[in-house]
Amino acid sequence: MSSLIELKGVIKEYKTGPSVIRVLKGIDLSAGEPGSIVAVLGPSGSGKTTLLNLMGALDKPTAGEVVVLGMRLGELSEKQLTEYRRKKVGFVFQTFNLIPNLSALENVVLPMEFLVPGDKQAGEKGMHLLEQVGMAHRAKHSPAKLSGGEQQRVAIARALANDPDIILADEPTGNLDTSTGEEVVSLLTDLVKREGKSLMVVTHDDRLASLADFVLHIRDGQLAPETPIPPPS
Ligand SMILES: Nc1ncnc2c1ncn2[C@@H]1O[C@H](COP(=O)(O)OP(=O)(O)OP(=O)(O)O)[C@@H](O)[C@H]1O
Ligand SMILES: [Mg+2]
Repeated sequence: MSSLIELKGVIKEYKTGPSVIRVLKGIDLSAGEPGSIVAVLGPSGSGKTTLLNLMGALDKPTAGEVVVLGMRLGELSEKQLTEYRRKKVGFVFQTFNLIPNLSALENVVLPMEFLVPGDKQAGEKGMHLLEQVGMAHRAKHSPAKLSGGEQQRVAIARALANDPDIILADEPTGNLDTSTGEEVVSLLTDLVKREGKSLMVVTHDDRLASLADFVLHIRDGQLAPETPIPPPS
């Protein structure tokens, strides 16, 4: 069976003016199984978001190969990458990123393929997702009228809209207080397990890290020694 993530010699550089910064400095890793939770830990600026963006095909490595659930992202065409981002991956962000002038339900329905907000089928599917995150009673509210934890629940429902294989979450509890963060963590991990999805999550949250099947430590663009590297298979 293929790993959840495989990274082969992954380098990522950013050009800012005349200078080039190497943010990821050659990462080799094969970790997690489909259906598992991988946590990414590391100090600020170590390259965690950069890594997650590569996994979600929001950006491309300067060199090396990124393989997610057996899919070699470097071999996909632009069209296939768009499909990958839309259908295989669900994104959850620290700042929720809901669209302010849409209701909770409309936010969840927006990414759905072939379904238009206002359609009966879209509405039903969206309501079902909102029920799963305990937010059906707030379906018509705009994000501004929701608490941070509620907004993140809606964002999780939105991430599930196209039934993705993997959820990529970048510090999903970073803007929440401890107890709200814990609720969101339980929700996210329960949903992922129940639906048989994979989760890769950047976190400073010890509780979230302790629930992970694999913890990847990154420091200054490299795997830190505390990452347990499985022997080559
Ligand atoms: N688009 C970009 N252009 C230039 N430099 C960038 C860009 N994106 C990130 N960087 C730099 O790459 C490094 C790693 O950034 P990244 O966002 O991956 O860190 P992080 O581990 O997610 O940090 P944090 O915990 O603060 O979110 C930082 O030094 C950052 O300034
Ligand atoms: Mg980050």
